Amino acid sequence: MDTKKITIAIDGYSSSGKSSMAKRLAATIGYRYIDSGAMYRAVTLYAMRNGMIDDSGNPDTKKIIAALPDINIDFAVSDGIQNTILNGENVEKEIRQMAVSNNVSPVAAIPEVRHALVAKQQAFGAEKGIVMDGRDIGTTVFPDAELKIFVRASAETRAQRRFKELIEKGSQASYEEVLANVVHRDHIDETRSESPLRQASDAILLDNSNMTIEEQNGWILDKYNEAISKL
Ligand code: DC
Repeated sequence: MDTKKITIAIDGYSSSGKSSMAKRLAATIGYRYIDSGAMYRAVTLYAMRNGMIDDSGNPDTKKIIAALPDINIDFAVSDGIQNTILNGENVEKEIRQMAVSNNVSPVAAIPEVRHALVAKQQAFGAEKGIVMDGRDIGTTVFPDAELKIFVRASAETRAQRRFKELIEKGSQASYEEVLANVVHRDHIDETRSESPLRQASDAILLDNSNMTIEEQNGWILDKYNEAISKL
C-alpha cells in the first residue's frame, strides 16, 4: 500500500540541531529535505559579494530587493550531501562561514526577501513529501503542515555545538564569539516584524538540551508515525 505523503515543518532556534534531525528524518522516510536557512544565507552571500552590505553589517535594502530577480537558488544532492547552488555555483561551504552568519539576520528581516523565498519554499513543497526546516515554516510557509515541530535548546548548549562544528571544519572562531552570534541572531529573529521566530500554536515542542542525537532521531520518527497513522 502506498503511504500518503505529508508536509513536515521543523522550526526553531539557530544551531538547535534541527537541520541534522530534519535531514536524517527525510532520508529515513524517503522525503525531500529543504534547508530554508541556506536560502537566506545564499541571498546574503550574493549581497556581500556585490557590495550590498557595508562593513558594519547594514544591508542596502533597496539594492538587495532590486537584485532579487537575479538571484537563483537551488539544491543539488551529491554523495548524499545536500549542496546549495547560487546562480549555478555550489556555495555550500561559503554560506556556513561566520562572515555570512554575522550578516544574515538583517537580510532575512527584509520583507521582500522573505516574500520571494517563501514563494520558492512553497513551490518546493507543492507535492508534499517534504521536510523543511527554518524559523517560519509552520507559521507562514506551510501553516497546514500535518506535522510541526518547534525545537529549543539553551543558548550555551547551541553555542557549544556550533563551536565544535566550526573547529572541526578548521575555522578559527572562539566560543565567546559563537555564543555572542547565537544570542544576537536569536534577538533579531524573535523581534523582527515580518514572520518573527515563534512556535506555531499546533507545533509540538522539543527541548533537546539534554538529548543525544539518537534520542532526537527516535523521537521525531515516532511523531512522524503518529501523524501518518492519523491520516
Ligand atoms: O538556520 P540558519 O542559521 O542557517 O538560518 C540562517 C538565518 O536565516 C537566521 O538568521 C534566521 C534566518 N532564517 C529565517 O529568517 N527564516 C527561515 N525560514 C530560515 C532562516
